[in-house]
Amino acid sequence: QVFFKPIHNTSPPSPTKRHTKISVVGTGNVGMAIAQTILTQDLADELALVDAKADKLHGEMLDLQHAAAFLPRTKILASTDYSVTVGSDLCIITAGARQIPGESRLNLLQRNVTLFEMIIPPLAKYSPDSILMIVSNPVDVLTYIAWKISGFPSNRVIGSGTNLDSSRFRFLIADHLDVTAQDVQANIVGEHGDSSVALWSSISVGGVPILSFLEKQEIAYEKETLENIHKAVVDSAYEVINLKGYTSWAIGYSAANLARSILRNQRKIHPVSVLAKGFYGIDGGDVFLSLPAQLGRGGVLGVTNVHLTEEEAQRLRDSAKTLLEVQSQLGI
Ligand code: NAD
Ligand code: LAC
Repeated sequence: QVFFKPIHNTSPPSPTKRHTKISVVGTGNVGMAIAQTILTQDLADELALVDAKADKLHGEMLDLQHAAAFLPRTKILASTDYSVTVGSDLCIITAGARQIPGESRLNLLQRNVTLFEMIIPPLAKYSPDSILMIVSNPVDVLTYIAWKISGFPSNRVIGSGTNLDSSRFRFLIADHLDVTAQDVQANIVGEHGDSSVALWSSISVGGVPILSFLEKQEIAYEKETLENIHKAVVDSAYEVINLKGYTSWAIGYSAANLARSILRNQRKIHPVSVLAKGFYGIDGGDVFLSLPAQLGRGGVLGVTNVHLTEEEAQRLRDSAKTLLEVQSQLGI
């Protein structure tokens, strides 16, 4: 009231938009890339950051707050205490060990399960109606662990999964064909990692189904070329980690892309890690892996029934088997 004189003596207008709060746990390379993408894309009214390292966390919060004049208005909070996350709509978990050059994602499991036993209970306590988005690796098994520990329904526990791998795939196909990646519809499903599956049979570019188009035109395509593109996707993270030590920007955009679909109730389809038991003949236990799923305010709204060739379906079941074997060693 000191700075503004009300124009009319009326009650304040009711808010036109629902208040949205996102919490990011883990403010390392990945957490901060996600936080800054969320801020630039105006996805939240409130952003809460949590990390175990108090000074680093405080520094990151101040550094983001100092950009206030250049960004949409977002209240930024940070604490080592999980009470700061209270009432979140979406909790994104990026805390934990990351790979050293050459190390596989699955190798991080035991260390990060121990962390999740500390992280998930307070998040679930302070935001019992939130959606959990897991990013820490190995993301599929940790999404399963988060589902178990939180007791949340499976539609509210999502792994960022192969949304990132699919972007890498679309980039490489677009580069090969000299088109824009946004015109390439292509999915990688299965494990976010070494056993991921490229769905070649359903790729289209600008609405043209590519493999059947090439066949009809009797244009020969080399299976080896396709396999090399998928291999390049699988090798992508290893390559970036070898070169810069970690990956961050692409996962930042990928997680923000998912946050937008969820919080703005976009009903968009993304390949993300969901409870996959029963789909495409996946059996043998509860397993999370990426399938094309529709996302909205309720979390996972459904799984798209994409046609897979028998070879693709078998590779997907093999990917599930790899993850189930890893889970069985945990005894959870
Ligand atoms: P980082 O080392 O930069 O950051 C990890 C952060 O976790 C650190 O700030 C650390 O203090 C914090 N932390 C550790 N224990 C904690 C606890 N108990 N509570 C709160 N915070 C805690 O690592 P990074 O490069 O940011 O990677 C983070 C994770 O994300 C790794 O597991 C990495 O493999 C994974 N990752 C996943 C994807 C994906 O596509 N799913 C992509 C990139 C990285
Ligand atoms: C990625 C991480 C390392 O960038 O999972 O794929």
